[in-house]
This record gives sequence, structure tokens and C-alpha cells, in this order.
Amino acid sequence: MASESNHNNFHALQAICYKRGSLRLLDQRKLPLETVYLDIQNSSVGWSAIKDMVVRGAPAIAIAAALSLAVEAVNLEAFEGTADDAASFLAQKLEYLVSSRPTAVNLSDAATKLKEIIVKAASTCSEGNAVFQAYIEAAEVMLEDDVASNKAIGSYGAKCFESQLKDAKKISILTHCNTGSLATAGYGTALGVIRAVHAQGILERAYCTETRPFNQGSRLTAFELVHDNIPATLIADSAAAALMKAGRVQGVIVGADRVAANGDTANKIGTYSLAVCAKHHGIPFYVAAPLTSVDLSLPSGEHIVIEERSAKELLNSRGGLGEQVAASGISVWNPAFDVTPADLISGIITEKGVISKNRDETFDIKGFVQKAVAV
Ligand code: MRU
Repeated sequence: MASESNHNNFHALQAICYKRGSLRLLDQRKLPLETVYLDIQNSSVGWSAIKDMVVRGAPAIAIAAALSLAVEAVNLEAFEGTADDAASFLAQKLEYLVSSRPTAVNLSDAATKLKEIIVKAASTCSEGNAVFQAYIEAAEVMLEDDVASNKAIGSYGAKCFESQLKDAKKISILTHCNTGSLATAGYGTALGVIRAVHAQGILERAYCTETRPFNQGSRLTAFELVHDNIPATLIADSAAAALMKAGRVQGVIVGADRVAANGDTANKIGTYSLAVCAKHHGIPFYVAAPLTSVDLSLPSGEHIVIEERSAKELLNSRGGLGEQVAASGISVWNPAFDVTPADLISGIITEKGVISKNRDETFDIKGFVQKAVAV
């Protein structure tokens, strides 16, 4: 990966800088102290950038993966094969990209949709280049669609929190991990809702957790909140229960890596304990996610594959990037995500509206998705 340190040409909150034939990813491991963009020339460099956390966050990894292959396709020296050859070349690369991180469904959802497009293109033309062109255009649309979808999530989320104000004029909200511009093509999901609540003038304060061990909260969310001048306070993950007990937050909002058909939601490790604490304190707990995070093929969260990451993330400081902090010889369990059961979730805020619970306290996610796609 060629790197480019640049403080002028790129916006520090833009994780993905793309123009046809060129993809640069902001190296999020270096934030908030350095702004370094890495050149992603092809899908294997894209795969490593996702695996190594240069880019992270469910929507961002899906888009970065799709675009890394688009760049490879643009820059391919003469491709002699047929349309079917081009389709199978792209399909294999997509399969490989999906193997970079298992938990976020957005990546495999994007791969499935892109495969459908290339199969269709291959069935209507004979030239390989036409299939590449169809792929490139579809990957580019994903980048554009994500920002629009996040803005819609923000606006539904702001209305949802506004309706909860009762006598108060403002609300304080706790969030976890990073779900902002850096985790998406721009604006963000849960952090997008916080942005929208702030823009509405009804945000008292945002609280963000550090999000150990990789510190997406302290390094990235805090950076975004400061950048946007949003009143915000950083807390240790272990301070969340005390924060709730002290009555300092009236809502919790988090993102999602995968939402099962019953509403069980996989998200950054620590989300489940926040949901348990919120329930105990009677604080509404929301998930904000695009419909691309919903996986109707899984009946419940039990079936979600949870990525386990390197022990180094705990043994060394800065999520594994710094010096050793734990005793040599200790064994480590480091799941990157956990599953929050649907019964702890008050609502799921999507770009098509808020999925609320039925009278029997269950979510009808399939029914919601069917209605949303029919509109
Ligand atoms: O390991 P990460 O940093 O990719 O985990 C990110 C999260 O868990 C986010 O909350 C989730 O992907 C939603 S991002 C809009």
C-alpha cells in the first residue's frame, strides 16, 4: 500500500476518497494524530486494508471492498476473456473480499448484489469489458447511496428522540464504537443520528465510550464530535453504568454489523452490556443501521459468526499498535463483537423509518423490509 500524508487535499473525516481508477483510504489506525491516506490499487490490497483495520465500520468496509475491485477492473491491462470470464473473475475476487472480516453482513450483502449485476451483464453481452463497466458503475452507486441513506437514518432518528423529550428541552445520548463519517461513506448511522439531533437544537450532550480494546470511541468518535463542535464527553467503557445511574443520559444509540430476522443485533463488543445497563435504568436503547445490515437469512443472533481478533489488541496498548501492557503468558479472549438480544432493543432506526416493536414485544423485521422495498 503506497501512503500519502496529506493535510490539505482531503477532508479529515472522509474515510474513502474515490475517483474512477483511484481509491485512497484514510488510515484510521493513525487517527487522531496523523492524517495518512493509503493508495489501494487492487482487491488484495483492499482485503489487507480491511483485515488490518485501516478502514472499518460495516458500511465503510463494504464500500471500500467493492471500490478496491472497481479500481482493479479499471486498471486491468487488456482483458482478453469473454463476458463469462469477466463475471467469474469478478465473482472470485468478491468471494475473497468477503473473507476479510466475517461479522458485518454489509460486505457479503454488497458482494451478493454486485454478483447479481455482473451475472446479468454477462447474460446480455459477450465482451468482458462490458461486464467490468457494469461492475464499476454499480460499485460507484454504492458509495453515493450510502450518504443519502445515512442522512435519512439521521432524520428518522432525530424525530424519534424528539418525540421522547416530554417536558425536557434537550436530551443527552450515549454512543459506542464509531459509527460516523469514518465508518461509512459519510455522515454516519448512530453518530449521524447524534449529528441530526444536534442540528435540531435538542442535543444537550453526546457521551462516547472509549470502546476498548481498539479505542474506536476515543480515537475516532471523539475526533468526529470535536471536529463538528458537538458538546461531547468521553467516558471509559466501565463508566457507562454509573453515567446512567447518575441520570446523565436519556438515550443510548449504537450501530450494527448484522441484524438477524428477530432483531438480535451484532455490534462492537460491549454493546450488549450497555443494553443490559440501559434496561436496568429504564433508558431507551436504539440501534441505527441501514437495511443492508439486516440479514433475514438468520432467524436469530445465535447464528451470527463473531470475529475473534488477535490477542495483541489486549496485550499491547493502543489496541495492539503500542507497547506491551499485559503480563506475558496470560491467555486472551478477544471477540470483536457481541450480540444484543432483541428484547433489550427499543427500536431499529433505518433509512426507511423506525422498526418498532409489535404489541407482543417482537420486531417484524421481514414485514418492514418487504413494505420498504415495495414503496
Ligand atoms: O471493528 P469495527 O470498528 O469495524 O466495528 C464497528 C462497529 O461495530 C460499528 O458499530 C458498526 O460496524 C456500525 S458502523 C456504522
